[in-house]
Amino acid sequence: MLILIIGGGYIGHRCHDAWVESVISTDRINSKEDVLKLLDEHKPDVVLNAAGVRGKPNVDWCETHQLETILGNTKLPITIAEACQERNVYLLHIGSGCIFYGDSPHQDKKWRENDMGNPTEVTYSRTKWATDLVLSTLPNVGIGRIRMPIDYIPSTNNMIDKLSTFPKVIDVENSVTIVDDMVNVFYQLMEKKASGIFHVTNPGTLKHREIVALYEEMVDPNHKNEWITNDDLVKQGLATKGRSNNFLASENLAKIGINMREVHEAMRDTMTKYAELKKRGESSDKILTC
Ligand SMILES: NC(=O)c1ccc[n+]([C@@H]2O[C@H](COP(=O)([O-])OP(=O)(O)OC[C@H]3O[C@@H](n4cnc5c(N)ncnc54)[C@H](OP(=O)(O)O)[C@@H]3O)[C@@H](O)[C@H]2O)c1
Repeated sequence: MLILIIGGGYIGHRCHDAWVESVISTDRINSKEDVLKLLDEHKPDVVLNAAGVRGKPNVDWCETHQLETILGNTKLPITIAEACQERNVYLLHIGSGCIFYGDSPHQDKKWRENDMGNPTEVTYSRTKWATDLVLSTLPNVGIGRIRMPIDYIPSTNNMIDKLSTFPKVIDVENSVTIVDDMVNVFYQLMEKKASGIFHVTNPGTLKHREIVALYEEMVDPNHKNEWITNDDLVKQGLATKGRSNNFLASENLAKIGINMREVHEAMRDTMTKYAELKKRGESSDKILTC
């Protein structure tokens, strides 16, 4: 299966490194014709859209760059989908679980794949939700929603690195995505050409406190940080808008026989490998920036 990965950022490169039969395009895409050119050149069996705008250094950037965010997260995926439909090529688009804020209306508080998103304020979340809303009923298109990627490879994009370097950390609990598992799940979704929405998050939920505790156990026993509430983040001027925190149920993956490891098991395994790489001073930032 030849996979064309569109988007040469963190997730795009991470997937490309894992899949032997893949090509990655870092070309700027401005039109359907740009995508058709890539499809005709590479003749992929499937496409992964890993391009998008998530804001740098963080998602608050999107508040002051709304149009760039809309173009990258809404117009671009629709453009890619249009070209893929025209060539009858399956598209897996990377969505975000950050379209849900707080508890779901269900008794267990978890959001299902087909629940309506509720991103009232945050530009990034609104642009991601708008895309899910319009792409999710197209045939031959899948949406894999991920959250707070946690990887064994140290990098500034990795949740472990973020939590271990922030002096103040919010005391919250969430559904998260272990990147090794995500890479496997994306591959299986493309093999199956699965349509619809999939929550690519590990079963169970994880507290930031649990991640930091593992970091202190395995990487740096001298690590210290202050714990604050999600509201404090905005009140103390550390963020423009409050962050999305939520629990996701991953029902649609199970329906097609795809499983992910329980989150605590996967987290411990990931931190063990992370600690090894950290000792050796390895980081994917070096790879991405050279
Ligand atoms: N990382 C996360 O925490 C996270 C969580 C949930 C969902 N996601 C989703 O996962 C996807 C990939 O995220 P990521 O973490 O890999 O982000 P990333 O590192 O910023 O990579 C995104 C890539 O897309 C490229 N891009 C933007 N507009 C483009 C265009 N018009 N044509 C071609 N390339 C374009 C960017 O290029 P430039 O930088 O040159 O503009 C960048 O290389 C995004 O859809 C994001 O919303 C990520």
